[in-house]
Amino acid sequence: MNEPVAVGPNELGQQRMAFGGLFSTDMAIDLGTANTLVYVKGKGVILNEPSVVAYHVKDGQKKVLAVGEDAKLMLGRTPGSIEAIRPMREGVIADFDVAEAMIKAFIDKVHRRGFLSKPHVIVCVPHGATPVEKRAIRTSVQMAGAKKVGLIAEPIAAAIGAGMPITDPTGNMVVDIGGGTTEVAVLSLGDIVYARSVRVGGDRMDESIVSYLRRQHNLLIGDSTAERIKTTIGTARMPDDGRGQSMEIRGRDLLNGVPKETEINQAQVAEALAEPVQQICEAVMTALEATPPDLAADIVDRGVMLTGGGALLGELDLALREQTGLAISVADESLNCVAMGTGKALEYEKQLRHVIDYDS
Ligand SMILES: Nc1ncnc2c1ncn2[C@@H]1O[C@H](COP(=O)(O)OP(=O)(O)OP(=O)(O)O)[C@@H](O)[C@H]1O
Ligand SMILES: [Mg+2]
Repeated sequence: MNEPVAVGPNELGQQRMAFGGLFSTDMAIDLGTANTLVYVKGKGVILNEPSVVAYHVKDGQKKVLAVGEDAKLMLGRTPGSIEAIRPMREGVIADFDVAEAMIKAFIDKVHRRGFLSKPHVIVCVPHGATPVEKRAIRTSVQMAGAKKVGLIAEPIAAAIGAGMPITDPTGNMVVDIGGGTTEVAVLSLGDIVYARSVRVGGDRMDESIVSYLRRQHNLLIGDSTAERIKTTIGTARMPDDGRGQSMEIRGRDLLNGVPKETEINQAQVAEALAEPVQQICEAVMTALEATPPDLAADIVDRGVMLTGGGALLGELDLALREQTGLAISVADESLNCVAMGTGKALEYEKQLRHVIDYDS
């Protein structure tokens, strides 16, 4: 007899897996700097949690306390004995042990260990990942319980997930703006013609807001407050009225060290974000210049597709259009595109075999 289980969203996923999983336990993982998503074959995306792990160290051993959403709540708020960290940096593994524990915890949430066979997993990796970084990702997914691990380049997954016709003989440009990096890629005939990754993404935007408030207002805020400002009133363009909406924020006054509440408006956020936004625009222009002329002409005709969480920054599409002259669209469900695309590669593995790497 199975023990009764509480049915939250994750438990529900586990129960479904316990039945459906007998026939299909295969999964696709988008191991992002900010968020990890797991797509289960035949089911879609059933797990979406921050890539954060909280642990404490005892006798030199790291003991995991929480993973995902629960661990993110602890970021910046832990006592000395506990650490909450993000084991991925710029799309690759920064802390191997912790990343492995996190992947294992996420796989366990959707796949009952011991009851079903080991899953076949496809994971996406940044186009610019080195062979060593790719091997680290493959090894940790294997150590976390996978049988066979295939890798797919993130821009290809993003373009598939955004529904772009990547196998056509035409140029398609996709710009995936994640937490750690922005990857700009031009695809044709199912492969990458040009790709470039810049280390600018949502994290950099948060840092820019933190340093703007410190410089201009002597106010110290944490990264999670900066992220909240960005996702609430963040904008890539100066508001027409020179102010835009505003919100109340709290931080520490650096002059006298006491907590302080103040208001920040969209014009200030636009000013704070000007540099990372400019760097994203430049990456798009550089890609267009480096693209062979016929494919570049296709991109001018068809426009550019934005994916990833950073694509949701207010008016980023407009700012990019103004600066590059290209038509810009934001993909539906842009935060899920890479996971959906990796999942599609798993579902249509025979047709998409050439974009999956099993051997490097
Ligand atoms: N509405 C929003 N406006 C601006 N930024 C947003 C919004 N929603 C989410 N983000 C940002 O998107 C980022 C996460 O995006 P995503 O999940 O695509 O990254 P990731 O895949 O984990 O990172 P990477 O691809 O670089 O490894 C975070 O920095 C988050 O703050
Ligand atoms: Mg990503």
